[in-house]
Amino acid sequence: MITYKTTEDFQKMRNAGKVVSNIHYEIYKNTKEGMTLKDLDDIAKNIIEKSNVVSSFFGYQQPGAKDYPAYICASPNDVIVHGIPNSKIIEEGDVLSIDVGVSYSGYHADAAFTFGVGKISQEEQDLIDTTKFALQEAIKLVKDGQKLGTIGNKIDKIATRNNLGNVKNYVGHGIGLEMHEEPQVPHFGKKNRGFELKTGMAICIEPMFNLGSEETKVDEDGWTVRTVDGCKSAHFEHTVGLTEEGVYVFTENLF
Ligand code: MF3
Ligand code: CO
Repeated sequence: MITYKTTEDFQKMRNAGKVVSNIHYEIYKNTKEGMTLKDLDDIAKNIIEKSNVVSSFFGYQQPGAKDYPAYICASPNDVIVHGIPNSKIIEEGDVLSIDVGVSYSGYHADAAFTFGVGKISQEEQDLIDTTKFALQEAIKLVKDGQKLGTIGNKIDKIATRNNLGNVKNYVGHGIGLEMHEEPQVPHFGKKNRGFELKTGMAICIEPMFNLGSEETKVDEDGWTVRTVDGCKSAHFEHTVGLTEEGVYVFTENLF
């Protein structure tokens, strides 16, 4: 179902988004070599517990997998998305994607970013920067009357132009009273085709680009999505609302 948000609903999403941005900032600032991915999950858990919000991820159900057991997704290197924070030790050279979602008074916000731990290669930094750029360019296109095909087309062209694999098996989504609502937001498509955005909607756009092929596989745990060829991957996501006052990113970066 597609839900339309009022100004008050959007305010709740803005509040949720601020907590997500804060968690991103604290994880980015405090990540050090030698820590584990689980340590990063604890940072998120602590902030969530102090912030009058509920984790959108913890306990989330997906067919064929156990209930999601953590507060963030931590996806290192060849993990594209939905990595479960585990005892992996964070090392120099890791390309790490962090995804966080919370709800405030029932309304969700969801966002992801990717960063390099210590020194990473120029090719890896370009992967990160290009994925982030694709999300920013996509957000510029969000407006009442815009078709999702136009937005997806822009993202796909940026990946292709930079010789990156553009993951198509996972897409963005509407968001509001649930973390995943209609419509699906593909990161590819034809200009002027597809679903038409309207004021009152909110969407998550979340391009995932790979250094190698776009192909994906899922681990035994039913969650962890990896590149088939073992190449590194980057993921950026924002929650964007089409409010009466204009288009707003509710999960704006603090760094
Ligand atoms: N941002 C991710 C998505 O939209 C978050 C899902 S993780 C889950 O798919 F644990 F909540 F499923
Ligand atoms: Co999402």
